[in-house]
Amino acid sequence: MTTINPIGVFDSGVGGLSVLREIRRELPGEDLLYVADSGHAPYGDKSGPLIEARSIAIVEFLVSQHAKAIVVACNTATGVAIETLRARFSVPIVAMEPAVKPAAMHTKSGVIGVLATSGTLVSNNFAKLHARFGADVNILVQACPGLVEQVEAGDLSGDKTRALIEQYVLPLLAQKADTIVLGCTHYPFLASLIQEIAGSSVAIIDPAPAIARELRRRLASIKQLSPEARAGTERFWTSAAPDETKQVISQLWQVDVEVLGLPNVSSVEATLKN
Ligand code: DGL
Repeated sequence: MTTINPIGVFDSGVGGLSVLREIRRELPGEDLLYVADSGHAPYGDKSGPLIEARSIAIVEFLVSQHAKAIVVACNTATGVAIETLRARFSVPIVAMEPAVKPAAMHTKSGVIGVLATSGTLVSNNFAKLHARFGADVNILVQACPGLVEQVEAGDLSGDKTRALIEQYVLPLLAQKADTIVLGCTHYPFLASLIQEIAGSSVAIIDPAPAIARELRRRLASIKQLSPEARAGTERFWTSAAPDETKQVISQLWQVDVEVLGLPNVSSVEATLKN
């Protein structure tokens, strides 16, 4: 392994690009590999074994591409599969977690709202977070079916997206939440609309910058940071039709990018048998 080996990042779809952009900001010299499992998005309503099998197959692919570290840029995959991934792979793995701790420290009203997928909200990892902070603050949880699909379709501000956000956010405000956690990596792409609907007095918390700093610390601790003077590159793969995913990745990444089809990991049935 050399310091210029790439970092592998994945999500159920394009949401993890909100993490990738923070990694790019924090670590300009790193080469980044990104897998969008768009052929299986959303993960939020899929079974645990399927999400775990997909996560294993994608990490295997990223390791085969010589990744020196992995970022699970998906709260749902983290909630379901992180223990298995860490037990199975020796490469350092950094993972998402809804930012309940910073929200608990920030709130003045004592009420925080967590927007996430139902998969994340029913996970053991989230139960542990709830147990840790739920005594100090009132944690309102809100599953948001449909929002991931809106981001996957590149619809960040249309009528349907707005109506869904109103449906999910207004009840939190009515219960005096003054801090809202974006507990799914797709939601930062909706942050301006969420802020507009919630009002400027409500804080919106995205854990992605903290994840990027954590990645820097992990790489520094094993002396695997690449030289900052390099210009890092990005490469993208998808398990859906590359032409379709290319459009939305290019929209969200704000650059016209090339997107390749993900090889050899498209058969969930085969992975589930392993
Ligand atoms: N972006 C992912 C997350 O952070 C997955 C959402 C989904 O596919 O349901 O949870």
